[in-house]
Amino acid sequence: MRHFLKDDDLTPAEQAEVLDLAEAMKKDRFGYRPLAGPRTVAVLFDKPSTRTRVSFAVGVGELGGLPLVIDGGSSQLGRGEPIEDTARVLERQVAAIVWRTSGQERIEAMASASHVPVVNALTDEFHPCQILADLQTVRERLGRTAGLTLAYLGDGANNMAHSYLLGCATAGMNVRIGAPPGYQPDAVVLDRAAAIAAETGGSVTAVSDPVAAVAGAHVVATDTWVSMGQDGKEERVAALMPYQVNAELLGHAAGEAIVLHCLPAYRGYEITADVLEGPASAVWDQAENRLHAQKALLHWLVGQA
Ligand code: CP
Ligand code: NVA
Repeated sequence: MRHFLKDDDLTPAEQAEVLDLAEAMKKDRFGYRPLAGPRTVAVLFDKPSTRTRVSFAVGVGELGGLPLVIDGGSSQLGRGEPIEDTARVLERQVAAIVWRTSGQERIEAMASASHVPVVNALTDEFHPCQILADLQTVRERLGRTAGLTLAYLGDGANNMAHSYLLGCATAGMNVRIGAPPGYQPDAVVLDRAAAIAAETGGSVTAVSDPVAAVAGAHVVATDTWVSMGQDGKEERVAALMPYQVNAELLGHAAGEAIVLHCLPAYRGYEITADVLEGPASAVWDQAENRLHAQKALLHWLVGQA
């Protein structure tokens, strides 16, 4: 039985297997029914969501299962019932537990008490389901992942930056984080990503020069400068404005570069409207691929149980 709490919970071979399955399932959307019964998947949210909520609910249904979507605030979890008690109640009734919460230690506590797979639907530290969808999008647009360079600009210390480091290193990519001092990735995550990259033929670097980060990149990615639960918007905007993904900065990337953003996007801050809506943007395919990538992940996880 396996959990998916952060990107490197899948080995390179397993990640490739899930992405192959996602591609096949996208082509035959209603042809896979591993949750027929229906088996139920609990999908819990301690933070707001549009894409993750919809894609898990739709995906579980398309797999023949029953999605049980619960807002943390409307459950006893939100009133302080221990995470481990919640896990022990849920695991006797559901096939998997998907949870969006704050600290990574919370989802680790859920997983440690659960005998069914637990999936991270975003924590403060990681957003691994998003990276599976992003890798599926890169494969579709550019034909491969290994050997390509992904530049991530902006808050290098947030969940997306950390997941790009681990997930794209697992996929054999070269990951460059462009972020100012004070917004650089967690050193432990950076070291772990470097160790993975050494095995897969990828590489990881974190720099403060946005042009150096983007130069020649095949994929340019960004994310909000103010993640859910963070404050200090004014200070963050001032520090991160040089890292805005705009036409001028994108001009330093490879000619056929694609642009990714997990959404929601804040036009005029981390990305300009012309780039988000322009020909390089793959963001709507990326959002759709949440559905296919997570269906493949759930299929794979329940198959391991
Ligand atoms: N990208 C993403 O996770 O979006 P939501 O917050 O809408 O789920
Ligand atoms: N870094 C963002 C991602 C949103 C999908 C956040 O945590 O709010």
